[in-house]
Amino acid sequence: MAGLARVWSRGQSGMQSEPVRVEVDIGSGLPTVLIVGLPETAVREARDRVRAAINNSGFKFPDGRVTINLAPADLPKEGGRFDLPIAIGVLIASGQMPEHCADGYELIGELALGGELRSIRAAIPAALAVRQYDRKLIAPSDNQHELALVNGLDVRVADCLAQVTGFLRDDRTLPRPIANTLSVAASGGPDLKDVRGQHGARRALEVAAAGRHHLLLCGPPGTGKTLLATRLTGLLPPLTESEALEVLSIRSVAGDCIDARLCAEPPLAAPHHSASMTAIAGGGTHPRPGEVSRAHNGVLFLDELPEFERRALEVLREPIESGRIVISRVSGQCQFPARFQMVATMNPCPCGHLGDPEVMCTCGPTAVARYRRRISGPLLDRIDLHVTVPRVPFDVLREPAGDATESSSSVRQRVTEARARQLGRQSCANADLSGAGLESAAKLDQQGEMLLGRAATKFKLSARAIHRTLKVARTIADLAGSHDIAPLHLSEAIAMRGVDTVD
Ligand SMILES: Nc1ncnc2c1ncn2[C@@H]1O[C@H](COP(=O)(O)OP(=O)(O)OP(=O)(O)O)[C@@H](O)[C@H]1O
Ligand SMILES: [Mg+2]
Repeated sequence: MAGLARVWSRGQSGMQSEPVRVEVDIGSGLPTVLIVGLPETAVREARDRVRAAINNSGFKFPDGRVTINLAPADLPKEGGRFDLPIAIGVLIASGQMPEHCADGYELIGELALGGELRSIRAAIPAALAVRQYDRKLIAPSDNQHELALVNGLDVRVADCLAQVTGFLRDDRTLPRPIANTLSVAASGGPDLKDVRGQHGARRALEVAAAGRHHLLLCGPPGTGKTLLATRLTGLLPPLTESEALEVLSIRSVAGDCIDARLCAEPPLAAPHHSASMTAIAGGGTHPRPGEVSRAHNGVLFLDELPEFERRALEVLREPIESGRIVISRVSGQCQFPARFQMVATMNPCPCGHLGDPEVMCTCGPTAVARYRRRISGPLLDRIDLHVTVPRVPFDVLREPAGDATESSSSVRQRVTEARARQLGRQSCANADLSGAGLESAAKLDQQGEMLLGRAATKFKLSARAIHRTLKVARTIADLAGSHDIAPLHLSEAIAMRGVDTVD
């Protein structure tokens, strides 16, 4: 019964899913099991899981010398995802399954001792890669919600090893994943109508949502900054199918549970200010996506910005510019998508009352300077909108919800229209405009040029700040349904740059 078997599977590294050939050889000799091909601890443990799963599924683990090779050898292999292909390889090599029964298939799945299949991480990237190779996939039923989203792939899902052998050997049926569609969840999230007053900040939130601009809210304690910032995702247009698939791919690599109702709402990542640089950027021995990637196609909310570790904030600079983050390890580099919109809040000084007409600030100039130095100039330069959130007068705070407190859904409608205008014109949101795209989309008349020139000199705007102000002005014009950027739009954009608030 000695023999050799080859079965295909998929590894995982970052967002990539490379093919892995599982070779099983059974020779005569003392009963041993050897796994070669740079396997990690979890793969070595596969030996014991596979043995138990085979014996508990109506088969017999062979007695001879079993050598299992996972090729290519230099590919990092993590987790129990190779249990299923190893088990099928062992059964083929030991003559308990026909020789070519798994040809044309790729198999992934972790086995429990009783033979049940358990879900794996990164099922979506694996399925997308299998589709490219024109092969078929057999995977655990627990991953079916994710797998159902990958169109054009022949995929079967199983609950246990016996179902897979029944399908490959005895032509029994194996179900396909239950069809799954993206849905926009009934918006039960925080609503803008809870916020009283703060017309300037509400307007800034609308502009930020419409053009995907980064936003900083600055003001005394208890004025509604956190309240406003948590309402940004509720104003954003729903994700397209491909954007939602990207979001879910990241969640699937991060190992998050993906349930039956797949939401097209943009994601919100809100790390606590004690989060480490690795938690924000992503990393680890087997790099996992960090908060910047969890916020991909959605919002990264940094409450109490100056309280974050400076190193954790500095890593934001690269993804803000490039929309991705590169993580370097001794074992190689990997890259995760990280195209997010940032909303941050801060107080103007440690006591929070600098510039507050009603409460005197107790901080000395050195303390204020030290506090502000926690956020670097280059990071502030990348934030398009800097808005002051002042104290709300008592009568405004106590007024009943009415016309002055518009709901999120009606703002979202305007935002969606303005975004559609941008996509129709330049196939991207205004914040993502660059070079020639910005030049043609954000033309100014002579008056506008003069206005921008004066602001640039007065506020010592960097080239980046000038371009970002132009993008915001373009968004304001889009919200107004205007083809051209009028001086009025530009001056509102300059005011929202609020350069002085954090200088
Ligand atoms: N503009 C407002 N409209 C309605 N409620 C408000 C407003 N501002 C503050 N509140 C009330 O005060 C609470 C605290 O507001 P919030 O947490 O947003 O303050 P903050 O500006 O983030 O303060 P801090 O600087 O201390 O973080 C809110 O939960 C809400 O009940
Ligand atoms: Mg707050």
